[in-house]
Amino acid sequence: MPSPPRDGLLARLSGIVGDANVLTDPESMSGFLLDWTGRYRGEADAIVRPRTTAEVSAVVTECAAADAQICVQGGNTGLVGGSVPPPRRDGSRPRIVLSTVRMTDVDEVDAVGRCVGVQAGATVEAVDAAAARSGLAFGIDLASRQSATAGGVVSTNAGGTRMIRRGNARSQLLGIEAVLADGRVLRRWASLVKDNVGYDLPALLAGSEGTLAVITRVLFRLVVPPRAATVAVAAIAHVEDAIGLIGAATSRGLTVEAAELMTEAGIALVTGHGQRRPTATPGPFYVLLEVSGTGDIESTTAELLADADGLIDAVAQPAPARALWAAREGHTESIARSSSTPVVKLDISVPIRALPEAFAELAAVGTLTEFPCRPILFGHVGDGNIHVNLLDVPPEHATTVTDHVFGIVTANGGSISAEHGIGRAKVAWTHLGRDDVDLDIMRAIKATLDPRDLLNPGVLFDR
Ligand code: MLT
Ligand code: ZN
Repeated sequence: MPSPPRDGLLARLSGIVGDANVLTDPESMSGFLLDWTGRYRGEADAIVRPRTTAEVSAVVTECAAADAQICVQGGNTGLVGGSVPPPRRDGSRPRIVLSTVRMTDVDEVDAVGRCVGVQAGATVEAVDAAAARSGLAFGIDLASRQSATAGGVVSTNAGGTRMIRRGNARSQLLGIEAVLADGRVLRRWASLVKDNVGYDLPALLAGSEGTLAVITRVLFRLVVPPRAATVAVAAIAHVEDAIGLIGAATSRGLTVEAAELMTEAGIALVTGHGQRRPTATPGPFYVLLEVSGTGDIESTTAELLADADGLIDAVAQPAPARALWAAREGHTESIARSSSTPVVKLDISVPIRALPEAFAELAAVGTLTEFPCRPILFGHVGDGNIHVNLLDVPPEHATTVTDHVFGIVTANGGSISAEHGIGRAKVAWTHLGRDDVDLDIMRAIKATLDPRDLLNPGVLFDR
């Protein structure tokens, strides 16, 4: 039960957003306090659901006055525990979850300027649907498109399956509106593709994981979708063959819209959960390639596949070829349903030239007797980004196996976080990704924008 000073804060928050939007009963709160992976559970005094930027500003102002911490939550589809509060270390500081679930407005698309303004809680699917009504597309796509939100993808600088062609969430940003820790509203909102007045603050907030400000609205650039595209899935003998196929597609004048790598172990899991096997003959590896271009793309793709090194079998269909994509997009869900313990999810990247060797070393983690686990690896091969999923890890081994995986990654010149962020999951390892000077600057920026550590406690920094 909240203590009397907390009751005062909650009453004031109810005055801002309405009683129905301050949830305090354990049953209504529970979904907001557990992350998608089931590994991270936290505590808070209430879930607060504002509707507008003005309400967010008023909520943050009241929280600042009460020294209450704020955990910002969008679709709660993040995979590093960054969207749920930590367990309480010190019982005295009040804490709320600020959910953007009611902030779903999508403005009219500017078809000439190719951009759209949306509220932070608008889903990726809703942004793309609005773009499609104007003959355009959103540059970000990911399997969790129905739940992942604009605020979430920007604050984590999400990559997703179109990253190879369109760049990450930061690359889609034209403007941003965000509430600072003192309640003031930062607004950079001009549909200008060229605008060099000082620091790029929207780019700074992208990837800041809610630790610097609460993103309330985003002005996204939109892209022109290809007129025609083909999706091919090839069963291949080696990881190198996937990399070779991407290069060969480009050499033939095709534009690579997506390039995803899977293994037979992953395909066996997703087919066990209702998806169709993509090729008649299995391979140890699979690459999904979506390509666009001019001329007869289907014939060019067929020639590309016929000449591919290590080819075992292949299928190709005109995009969107949802059934082929389903085998790839079903991985996360099937993995979560197949592990006897919460999955240890390590989203890493390595330079493309190091990928085959790093992939083999990562897959071999499952053969080490010191860390019993079942690895399923898949990911965005064109970006050097592999999602290392370790199933059936006894919880007492989670830290040591993570150390081991990150050792492989750093020895191969890679990053411990390719696209999911640091959240709470990787705080202990940030020194593997950034040196002391870099981390000092990050802490200085945090101390300037949020000196009292009100925003997203426990995320990105250990404090
Ligand atoms: C994906 O690429 O499907 C996501 O990043 C999810 C995951 O890593 O499980
Ligand atoms: Zn991914």
